[in-house]
Order: sequence, then C-alpha cells, then structure tokens
Amino acid sequence: MAGVTDRPFRQLCRKMGAGLVVSEMLSSNPRVWKTAKSMHRMDHSGEKGIRSVQIAGADPELMAQAARFNVENGAQIIDINMGCPAKKVNKKLAGSALLQYPELVESIVQAVVNAVDVPVTLKIRTGWNTENRNGTDIARIAEQNGIQSLAVHGRTRACMYRGNAEYDTIKAIKQAVSIPVIANGDITSPEKARDVLEYTGADGVMVGRGAQGNPWIFKQIQHFLETSENLPPPSLSEQHRVMHEHVVNVHNFYGGIMGVRIARKHVGWYLAEHDRENQFRRTFNGLEQADAQLDALDNYFQSLHDRNERQVSPAA
Ligand SMILES: Cc1cc2nc3c(=O)[nH]c(=O)nc-3n(C[C@H](O)[C@H](O)[C@H](O)COP(=O)(O)O)c2cc1C
Repeated sequence: MAGVTDRPFRQLCRKMGAGLVVSEMLSSNPRVWKTAKSMHRMDHSGEKGIRSVQIAGADPELMAQAARFNVENGAQIIDINMGCPAKKVNKKLAGSALLQYPELVESIVQAVVNAVDVPVTLKIRTGWNTENRNGTDIARIAEQNGIQSLAVHGRTRACMYRGNAEYDTIKAIKQAVSIPVIANGDITSPEKARDVLEYTGADGVMVGRGAQGNPWIFKQIQHFLETSENLPPPSLSEQHRVMHEHVVNVHNFYGGIMGVRIARKHVGWYLAEHDRENQFRRTFNGLEQADAQLDALDNYFQSLHDRNERQVSPAA
C-alpha cells in the first residue's frame, strides 16, 4: 500500500504473523527511480522473509524493465498492480484502468513474466465498474500467461473505496482458475477472514487497512483460523512497546523531519480507538522532534496505565 507498507511497517507486520508482505507500488517509469520517495520504497535492507515488490505502469516494455531492475535489486516476487483506482495512476492507464483493456493486460503480463525468473503475481479489482465486472476474464488471462497467484480486491475501479467489498466475484474467480486466489477487501477481524475464506473458497486473505494501527490482526486471524478461538486483545504495555518500537524504526528509516511526519499517521491509526476525542493526537501532531514524539507517547501510556490502576483499586 502506497504510503503505508514501507519497510518499517512491513517488518512489523511480518513479525506479527503476516505470511507475505508486499512493497508500496513502484512506478515503472525509470525517471522517478532516483527520487527520495522511490529510493525509500525500494529499500528492503535487513528485511526477513520473501521480498515481494509491486510495480505499476501501462507500457509492457517499461514494466518488463522495471521487473528486471527490481529483481536485480533483490525482489523475489514481482507483483503487478492492476488495482489502484487513483486518478494520477489511471490517467496513464495504469492500475485498475488496465482492466478495461484485456489485450494490454495480456501484453503486460507476458512481458513481465518473460522478463524475470522469479514468480510474478497480480493484484486486480473485480472489474472496472459494476456493469463490467470482468475480473474472471482477467483472471483467466493471468493464469494462461504465467501469473502464479492472484489477489482480488472486492470492489470495482469505479467503486474506489466506497460501499462494502463484494465477494461473489471473488468466488467466481476462484472457481474459474486454478492458481491461488487471495481475497481482499474489508477484512478487519478474524471472524470476517473466516467468513470470506469460507464463502469465496479463496486460498488466502489479504489485509490492508485493517492492519493500520493494528498489526496484531495477523496473529489474531491465524490463531482464530487454527483454533476457532480469539486471542485476548494486546495489553496496554504490549501496545506501548509495539508503537514505541515502530515509531523509533520510522524515525531511523526516514530521518528526523520526514520520520516525524510519517510517525504521526501511524500513531493516529493506533490511537483511533483509545483517543476518541483526538486530544492526544492533536498534541502529538504539533510535535516537531523525534524525541519529543517518543516522550509524549511514553507519558501518554503511563497516564493510561495510572488511570487503569486507579480504576482497579479506587480506595487507594
Ligand atoms: C492508502 C492506500 C494505499 C494503497 N496502495 C496500494 C498499492 O500501492 N498497491 C495495491 O495493490 N493496493 C493498494 N491499496 C489497496 C489495498 O491494497 C487494498 O486492496 C484495499 O485497501 C482493500 O483492502 P482493505 O479493505 O483490506 O484495505 C491501497 C489502499 C490504500 C487505502
């Protein structure tokens, strides 16, 4: 996820039980590869587990070049983005705009699969609008041209992120192809993961926004699928520990100025439940120094801890 699944967050998600994590999408346009943004996106140093790198673009030859470049840079899976509905991306016919052009989909898939000797996977939406849910046709093209696994977000391009994800098309896609199909969209709890797996017959689930501020979701899902029981929610001290470490890693990865900005976003997600009136977040977002952010977080959790203690033993 662009702007979300950077190296610190991917490392955290893996540690918390995600089976596979995918990089933020990288443009296939070589002119942008040297920008600070792309350099950060391409940074996988020290990352454990399989490195899956997502590329986006519409020109088969540029996509093939981008795939080769990323494999030389350590990618062990190349994932093609045909799911992004952003105007900036779709204007260039990349992302989910490609679903309208099955022949171009085929050319891109062929070019990328032939360019590299690592597995190539594909991410799509169910179609380009609700009248044209052609995900099944795209899935067949993908399978026939060497795609090894297909992730399907249960919305069309026109739906953007509105409404609820729809799983009938994912079910139909799963029945139409024999490569692994990963169901995606609105999976925010272990129960939802089970229901979607059962309903669609998919081989796995992909979690996006449900992991923002909640990297515990991966272990929670895994445990529930294995035992039909829910893990207890993470304790306050566990939440504090994970957030503190995550923020330190963000600071180290991006440096003081950018790191402080990016940490605000993640802390906002983590605290959405705790801090319903946004009081702490307003203060936190005003802080400009990395150390000040960490101190504020530590003090915030200390105050939550003290409040809980008082509630447990009011007489004291
Ligand atoms: C901020 C944001 C950035 C995203 N960036 C990407 C991306 O780079 N590549 C991609 O395949 N999907 C991207 N997505 C889509 C998600 O991967 C996912 O398909 C979608 O959010 C639905 O799943 P969810 O309900 O679990 O979030 C992005 C979504 C969001 C909200």
